[in-house]
Amino acid sequence: MYQYNLHQHITSLCEKHKLDTGGKDRLFFTRLIANAAAIASLYNSIYGNHPKGKDGFDHLIETLINTHLGRSNALQERDHRKETAGNWFLSNRIAGMSLYVDRFCGKLSNLPEKFAYLKNLGVNFLHLMPVFESPDGESDGGYAVSDFRKVDERFGTLEDLQDVQQQMLEQDMYLMIDIVLNHTSHHHEWAKKAKEGVAEFQDYYYMYNDRTLPDQFDATMPEIFPESSPGSFSYVKECGKWVMTVFHNYQWDLNYTNPAVFNAMLGNIFFYANLGVDILRIDAPAFIWKQLGTTCQNLPEAHTLLQLIRQCVQVSAPGMALLGEAIVAPKEIMKYFGTGLYTGKECDVAYNATQMALQWDALATGDTRVMLAAQQDLLQKPFGCTWLTYTRCHDDIGLGYEDASIAAAGFHAYEHRKYLKEYYSSSYTGSPARGALFSVNPKTQDARISGSLASLCGLESAMESEDAAAIDTAVNRILLMQAQSFFLGGIPMLFYGDEAGYTNDYSYLADTGKSYDNRWMHRPVIDWKKNLRTKEAGSIEARIFSATKRLLQIRSGLPVVSDKKNISWLTAHNIHVAAFLRADAQSRLYCLFNYSSKTAYLTWYAFKEHGIIPTKLLDHWSGKKISVGPDHEYLVIAPYGFYLLEVVG
Ligand code: GLC
Repeated sequence: MYQYNLHQHITSLCEKHKLDTGGKDRLFFTRLIANAAAIASLYNSIYGNHPKGKDGFDHLIETLINTHLGRSNALQERDHRKETAGNWFLSNRIAGMSLYVDRFCGKLSNLPEKFAYLKNLGVNFLHLMPVFESPDGESDGGYAVSDFRKVDERFGTLEDLQDVQQQMLEQDMYLMIDIVLNHTSHHHEWAKKAKEGVAEFQDYYYMYNDRTLPDQFDATMPEIFPESSPGSFSYVKECGKWVMTVFHNYQWDLNYTNPAVFNAMLGNIFFYANLGVDILRIDAPAFIWKQLGTTCQNLPEAHTLLQLIRQCVQVSAPGMALLGEAIVAPKEIMKYFGTGLYTGKECDVAYNATQMALQWDALATGDTRVMLAAQQDLLQKPFGCTWLTYTRCHDDIGLGYEDASIAAAGFHAYEHRKYLKEYYSSSYTGSPARGALFSVNPKTQDARISGSLASLCGLESAMESEDAAAIDTAVNRILLMQAQSFFLGGIPMLFYGDEAGYTNDYSYLADTGKSYDNRWMHRPVIDWKKNLRTKEAGSIEARIFSATKRLLQIRSGLPVVSDKKNISWLTAHNIHVAAFLRADAQSRLYCLFNYSSKTAYLTWYAFKEHGIIPTKLLDHWSGKKISVGPDHEYLVIAPYGFYLLEVVG
């Protein structure tokens, strides 16, 4: 949209910074002008009436200009390659792993020597869990940042991180790191100044003299860590005030009604962009806007701020995509891809937390109907955006999907969730799963689940009882879970250790900085001797590793699996089987997953629901060709087995 005054103003700021708008800075200038009206209107809808709003806007534009000027040629060339490729992150050739640098390989400087292991597995995209400075013992796994620009000594230095990025770039790998947007550590310099009583920095947070407003907020804000950190405010004895702390008491919520906070954090976002980050994981975006009388989650202003960030990133670091870590109800998750004019223009990627939890639901019940009922919502994702698909990550598994999906499958929502919690926390007799309840809310009985992929799939209990058949079943369950998440669409994100069958690690209980948080049970310390067993044919590690690797290889050879919004679910002919079709002009791939412990039978009619009458199918998993039978006969699927069937005749 053309806006004379705005464009003149921006042009004058560009002249002030001596931009060569007709030459080397032309593309940047074009992007800036093209996005200027959107940036101004998003910014003004939040800060237009703020006394420092106008200065803040100039500051924002100057941040964009300076980011561009500081962006290396190598990164600008990579931006250009990505722009030419279109939405590069939709590709079937990207597969990721999320890892803690210290627990994976000690230091950042050791990471490049592990690239061969990762690339052999088929991983070319790394999510490094937070490496910026975070106080030991009060770090929430690095999500309580005390300096957004200083790498914590326990991982190495900023130069080490730059070196890792450089080597990844050379090896055509992609990097993701976090921006912890919602809060800082109480040791951050802003928090320290706030404690000293400096009003300017007290305004960076939600600080109150007494409990009046905190009590009003608390009345409607759900508790995130009710066991270890009840309520959403903490008393700061240094200045005698209450500060909002939605997560732990050492994580102070930033106040985004203050444009100085937005600009400072935008500066940090671009600091990461110019380090060469390919996907920026926006931690906990659902929480960044607070409003009295609400849950203070998923508010419209939070979306406006994300849209504003996205338009700014597109101007100065167009190759960097944004991942929104919104672990919220399915209808709310969808809004993080943008709505209205901004559909497809907010976060490029979001966690498919609903699907992840629904796979755990199906594994515990042997019934896929709840998963199927939820797809109606999940399929609304706009074209051009994608999911991050996963079975486990560093966090707990929440069961926050809609009650309506549970009811649609014929279950009672409360009883159903109760069963799942008992099944995965080892209190249900006969369950092979080993896990624990996380953040039980004594008032509502809500709880989430901790535990590693292998332990929740039954490997820990099977190994303990040295039961070979149970070990086989557990391995099959692990592969079933991974296979569905790899082929559903989106970027598969493995969690480190899962490729080698790591079971729960209970050593966190002996560490007072961790013992209050049982998510540490599924954050292993890698023992490379164990990982070497991935090469010993027949070992459990090798069985899981080689199958995971093969699944990723199959995926990267099938462009139909890239996320072109090309997925159609088959109707429920067999309640134990989750089945969908991926189709494009070149190919059709049926993906079928049996979540039951018994052999499942799927009528051949199921393959004809989408207007295709296949006669021959190639199963990429077994390498065998299968003839399609008549409608009254069945495809036989082994217990916890799956097929990846491409139509070849
Ligand atoms: C995100 C992180 C989680 C952390 C929380 C607070 O949800 O994934 O680990 O505890 O944010 O930063």
